[in-house]
Amino acid sequence: MDRPQGEPPDRPLGMLAELTYRCPLRCAYCSNPVALDAYADELSLADWCRVLTEARELGVLQVHFSGGEPLLRGDLTAIVAHAHALGLYTGLVTGGQALTAARLTALAAAGLDHVQISVQSADAPEADTIAGRPAHRRKLAAAALVKEAGLPLTLNAVLHRATIGRAGALIELAERLGADRLELANAQYYGWALLNRRALLPTREQLAAVEPVIRAARERLAGRLEIVYVVADLYEGVPKPCMHGWGSRQLTVTPNGDVLPCPAAAQIPGLGVVNVARARLADIWFDSPAFNRFRGTGWMREPCRSCARKEIDHGGCRCQAFQLTGDASATDPVCALSPHHAALAEAVRADTARAADATPLVPRTDTRTRIRVRHRKRPGAGTGAGTSGGADGGTGNGVPDGAEAQEKTTS
Ligand code: SF4
Ligand code: FES
Repeated sequence: MDRPQGEPPDRPLGMLAELTYRCPLRCAYCSNPVALDAYADELSLADWCRVLTEARELGVLQVHFSGGEPLLRGDLTAIVAHAHALGLYTGLVTGGQALTAARLTALAAAGLDHVQISVQSADAPEADTIAGRPAHRRKLAAAALVKEAGLPLTLNAVLHRATIGRAGALIELAERLGADRLELANAQYYGWALLNRRALLPTREQLAAVEPVIRAARERLAGRLEIVYVVADLYEGVPKPCMHGWGSRQLTVTPNGDVLPCPAAAQIPGLGVVNVARARLADIWFDSPAFNRFRGTGWMREPCRSCARKEIDHGGCRCQAFQLTGDASATDPVCALSPHHAALAEAVRADTARAADATPLVPRTDTRTRIRVRHRKRPGAGTGAGTSGGADGGTGNGVPDGAEAQEKTTS
């Protein structure tokens, strides 16, 4: 392992636990990896319990169970119970298809603190078309169950060229469902969404038109419904402070146990990602090459190195820099000071100049994924509750924390 000199990094506050990438929905804006088959080997219940215990010892305060569709794990309730017993704040990020009253009652009894349900649109036929199956009615029913159970409800909707013009209807839907929080997130271009960027990107005019709608709704609904709006930063001149800085506040554990500084980091070659089977979480957080590669500012080149904003935006998003330049250590091309900024602006202009229907969407598909749950023992591994991991059918999606973080835009 590989700890640089100087001050030790802070401890993480949040963990995104991606329990499975399986999902019954087919959203073309999904941020899960396109190569889903690589994640068919899932951690068991015992593995997850050990990881959660180690996360708590490391200082993690909140965990969000995401995917894919975490409800596809038959052992989700046991995982939540273990997290709750450790004192962690627990959130479930779901597409809601398998959320029955009995399941929710069990999850609430296990200590679940919060539920986020994704919707594709406020219009049922459009929502079902985007999801690739009739899913909308069940999502509404799931949202009603969450309210009946007295749990805080966040509604999440991904905005893209086809839906951004009807953000107002999504706000009305959130009001009708009694949601406590609505997250309207422009698609973030990772995974399947990157593959479909050309068809998904909204135009500048669309983005300009939605902002007053959101502003007015925030004023009207202040104190009743919190509305979080996540911008599409490809149009900006300054990049987002992705993840609040690499390896600074959050970590992600993928379904197969890889530990990542952000959900999209697996695409960066040679990062030195370590799996929970090979080391304890604290060692991975403090000492692994993957977490230390872009920590702080020492890795930066110009123009970031001498820029006054380098402690503010951390040079932008490492994954976006890699996707757009092939070099994860480059300045995020969203930054107007990046030598790649003009090329990005031209690519965005060309993408949005095409008619939306001129580029067919590639729906997410993982039909070849078959799941194996591990039952291995590791020398020196911590504790764990129970034994097996389970799986059956469901839906999905996920988010870590807040608009400024890497947004997961599944289901
Ligand atoms: Fe941020 Fe680097 Fe651009 Fe400065 S040059 S604004 S640090 S991305
Ligand atoms: Fe990975 Fe931004 S650093 S998504």
